[in-house]
Amino acid sequence: MPNNASNIQSKQGGYSRKALDYFKNPKHAGEMKNPDATGKVGNPTCGDVMHIFIKVKDNKITDIKFKTFGCVAAISSSEALCVLAKGKTLEQAEKISNQDILEHLGWLPPVKIHCSVLGAEGLKDAIKDFREKHKKA
Ligand code: FES
Repeated sequence: MPNNASNIQSKQGGYSRKALDYFKNPKHAGEMKNPDATGKVGNPTCGDVMHIFIKVKDNKITDIKFKTFGCVAAISSSEALCVLAKGKTLEQAEKISNQDILEHLGWLPPVKIHCSVLGAEGLKDAIKDFREKHKKA
């Protein structure tokens, strides 16, 4: 367990332990074969890009993967999004906000908060793609 001093130091400028763990060992990184839908979003601030792949069954996200070309915060936010979204209904998943991602990670350096927006927006784009592909005629 980190002591209080290192916790405070991290909150002031570094990454949370969870954010670093997710960056070093993301369980949902990579492409998915035959996804039911995909999302893509770019961060206009830095030019980084995130791709999201989802599988949906009975209106629930049964699998999710990401491919993100970005910074530590973008990768850890992508992983956090996947952890939060898996098993959720599409309606629940599209409500995941970058605030939810930040709370899940603990914190990010203040200058990196904008990076967490990628995750939430990427998933919304994938859900939109899914609905367009599965429109009832
Ligand atoms: S600096 Fe580009 S997403 Fe973080």
